[in-house]
Amino acid sequence: MSEADLLIRRARMLTLGDHPEAPLVGAAMGELGVVADGWLAARSGVITAVGDGMGWRNLTLAEGAVVRDLGGRVLLPGFVDPHTHLCYGGQRWDEFAARRGGGDYLRLLAGGGGIHATVRATTEASEAELHALLVDRLRRAATLGTTTIEVKSGYGLEPAEELRQLRLIAKARRSVSIDVSPTYLAAHALPPSLASDRSGFLERAAATVAVVSAERLAESVDAFVERGVFSVDEVRPLAAAARRAGLTVRLHADQLNDVGACSFAAEIGAGSADHVSQASDAGLLALARAGVPAVLLPGSSLFVGYPAPDFARFASAGVAVAIGTDHNPGTSPLEGMPTAIALAVSLCRLTPQQAIAAATLNAAHALGRGGITGALVPGRRADLITLETDDERELAYRLGVRLIDEVYAAGRLVPRSVHMSV
Ligand code: NIG
Ligand code: FE
Repeated sequence: MSEADLLIRRARMLTLGDHPEAPLVGAAMGELGVVADGWLAARSGVITAVGDGMGWRNLTLAEGAVVRDLGGRVLLPGFVDPHTHLCYGGQRWDEFAARRGGGDYLRLLAGGGGIHATVRATTEASEAELHALLVDRLRRAATLGTTTIEVKSGYGLEPAEELRQLRLIAKARRSVSIDVSPTYLAAHALPPSLASDRSGFLERAAATVAVVSAERLAESVDAFVERGVFSVDEVRPLAAAARRAGLTVRLHADQLNDVGACSFAAEIGAGSADHVSQASDAGLLALARAGVPAVLLPGSSLFVGYPAPDFARFASAGVAVAIGTDHNPGTSPLEGMPTAIALAVSLCRLTPQQAIAAATLNAAHALGRGGITGALVPGRRADLITLETDDERELAYRLGVRLIDEVYAAGRLVPRSVHMSV
């Protein structure tokens, strides 16, 4: 066996390794592949071996290898956050306060606020400013255990500004050690100045997909399919353009109203259907049949105040479930997957173990990285988290307490402070 440069031993190890080749569904999400006294070895950022007991004694360690003895504390795969809107300027305190006073999210959007307020602030932000904000947010996510993260554009709307934001995401991606999966959120809202040119806007967005693909600026294309925003039929050509360009489609689907977006996501073989709070039974069955995972984002339910999706419906329909932060300044200002896990348990009623599977293996599959990360098995990237506890259920319980001890992204220790370079 080759020399290991990282060895973590005496861990309560959640391998997610019993059936890592596909996302787990329903009750099976509670099976985390626990090895009570486990060890893991890695070399050059890749897991080379896992085992239990004293088996690690047969390993050859490279000179200067990092060795950690967890004394029974938890080791688990790095979190995968499959849905974020990290590229934005400004904040939306005013809107948040207005909504608490009874303001309606979609009505504020239709009135030129909401997403449009962030579009204005983001468009006005300089490249240096946005770069610093992006890198800072990515580093903070990493300190909270996220080693793979999806980042959407979507606060430019006009193609030229969307491309600027995607290029900034690409630049930030090169500045951090965690794995970033960029998404072109091509149809987030209609610019108010184009109220009479909906089809022209959508045609330009679809045409921009070819540029995005040629410059390798995104892996996926997204759209906000919602009553009063964009309909299924309006985003069909965009989805077709994405498929022609070899990009995955992910959708903001049936978030606030059931508009048939889950069935559409199933029909086109989307990478994931996200939010899905209002998905119909037929939509869920269509997702299950097509093998399209749902990404639950309880943060936006909490902050906007609409019902969170009920996990039991997804489990009984046979839909694979992942969870994410949806970090954005409008609907989900929370940061970090531990908070998303706690909310998924308390609002969507996953068990703590199911939420961990949803935040690791299932989220990796939702992001097209099921064979790369999300499980502690040889050959997968050494994306790892150690906890300060020997009971992983605490993650869902002690909301607001930092339980993450160390984070390794591809075998490299992530600094605890965002001010150190990651
Ligand atoms: O995931 N619903 C659409 N998009 C985002 C929110 C965007 C915003 O309000 O800035 C979401 O909820
Ligand atoms: Fe979102």
